[in-house]
Amino acid sequence: MSAQLKNSNLEDSIIHTSADQPEPSRADLALNRCHLSRREFLWAGALSVTATAISLSFGRAFAGSTGEQTIQAEIAEYPRLAVCKLSELKNDEPLYFNYPDNEQNSNCMLVKLGTPAGGGMGAERDIVAYSALCTHQGMPLVGAYRAKEKALGACPAHLSTYDLTRHGIIISGQAYQNLPQVLLEQEGDTVYAVGLLGLLFGRNNNFNHAKPYSGTGV
Ligand code: FES
Repeated sequence: MSAQLKNSNLEDSIIHTSADQPEPSRADLALNRCHLSRREFLWAGALSVTATAISLSFGRAFAGSTGEQTIQAEIAEYPRLAVCKLSELKNDEPLYFNYPDNEQNSNCMLVKLGTPAGGGMGAERDIVAYSALCTHQGMPLVGAYRAKEKALGACPAHLSTYDLTRHGIIISGQAYQNLPQVLLEQEGDTVYAVGLLGLLFGRNNNFNHAKPYSGTGV
């Protein structure tokens, strides 16, 4: 497999991602004792990107009062992007792609860690993906994967390092935000990116520059 995916490999946007996930077994839960289960993880991601009509009260207009207002919350729907073939992944060999669009700061990386990870996909729950930009000042982290530690970094600018087994938390350095994690799904032999947990560096909205994908996928 090519170490890098070009944007031309991206498939058309597909919005819905609702394949049911099996309930985690007790062994799974024990395995993830400091992590979220797969179902919990996806549910958390869904909550971060979708919302429905909600009732908000302003000033002294409390819920149930005549001044109560119902507003439509903004709904962010991520594209479903085919990233790679599961059968072609090799442990500790990252590949790079762009998500959720092809615009600035959409650089992401996917890696099969060979060890279970928070939000990990696949039979071994070891396939994860993250933004590949340092959350401190946006330095690219391409080539900074550390197989032994299952970490990304140290960032060449100020040495921030992120734990890829624990949702990208900071191990060391100047950063103060986790790496945004890309939500993954599997369908057959294809790995899809379906959402993001966290805000991409340099954006005040992950969709500031969103454009529909065009391309052939993998
Ligand atoms: S830009 Fe990475 S630690 Fe500062």
